[in-house]
Amino acid sequence: VVERFEFYGESASALGVQFHEDLASQWESGYLRGSFKSRLELFCAILDRRVAAGERWLDLGCGSGIITRELSRRGAIVTGVDGSPAMLSYAKSRPNPQNAPPITWVLADIQKLAWLDSASCDGILCSSVIEYMPDPSSFLEEISRVLRPGGTLILSIPPRGSVIRTAQKIFRVIFGIIGKDAYPYLSVSKFELSPKRVKNWLAEADFVVSRMGSFDPLMHDRAIIGLRPSLLIVEAYKDRSE
Ligand SMILES: C[S@@+](CC[C@H](N)C(=O)[O-])C[C@H]1O[C@@H](n2cnc3c(N)ncnc32)[C@H](O)[C@@H]1O
Repeated sequence: VVERFEFYGESASALGVQFHEDLASQWESGYLRGSFKSRLELFCAILDRRVAAGERWLDLGCGSGIITRELSRRGAIVTGVDGSPAMLSYAKSRPNPQNAPPITWVLADIQKLAWLDSASCDGILCSSVIEYMPDPSSFLEEISRVLRPGGTLILSIPPRGSVIRTAQKIFRVIFGIIGKDAYPYLSVSKFELSPKRVKNWLAEADFVVSRMGSFDPLMHDRAIIGLRPSLLIVEAYKDRSE
């Protein structure tokens, strides 16, 4: 694991990391079934469309590396970056897919990617991470800087007004009254965006949305129409016209 430790002085950025540090040993077992498994299958279908062998990809906030390995399995030369030492040591302990390029693991704050040159990547994946960023817009600009024009971004974003997230917030308040910490991830997972704003928000950082899908653990695709799902999955590319 390559260490780029700059961020530990910054508490806002470190909060999302601290929260996950304790979850590292069990994180990947969550993907064996249920909603995590379906979300992984959805990402795999997207990677099948978007990833070409030999491309340089970043998995930002890679966690246990389960999707990083899917990138590698498709022949990408991947760097998995996370701020949690426990997540990365778990990621490193897992075997790489057979005949796949080796994966580089970097311990760093993904808010600042100063150690990466501009336009140095062909693709960036960021799954279930941007909601933990203290400044999502500057994070998106940093992603845009390191991606080459025409490069691919796959990004999940919690939509404002998601049925499940809203219900969880209400339970959190009610349980808070009796001193219980329900859905503690909501204390660090803050960013949400109205689906109507997604295209323009990404355009501010020179991204063009090519596809926007959704994921929800309870609602099947049809039920999602009209109701807001728990995640929007955006496929975009960096504008070439600069
Ligand atoms: C919800 S997990 C998602 C992990 C993985 N992408 C997945 O989909 O399974 C969020 C990850 O983002 C990492 N993270 C949050 N804020 C970070 C930051 N500022 N710098 C680096 N990693 C961060 C956490 O340590 C955690 O592993």
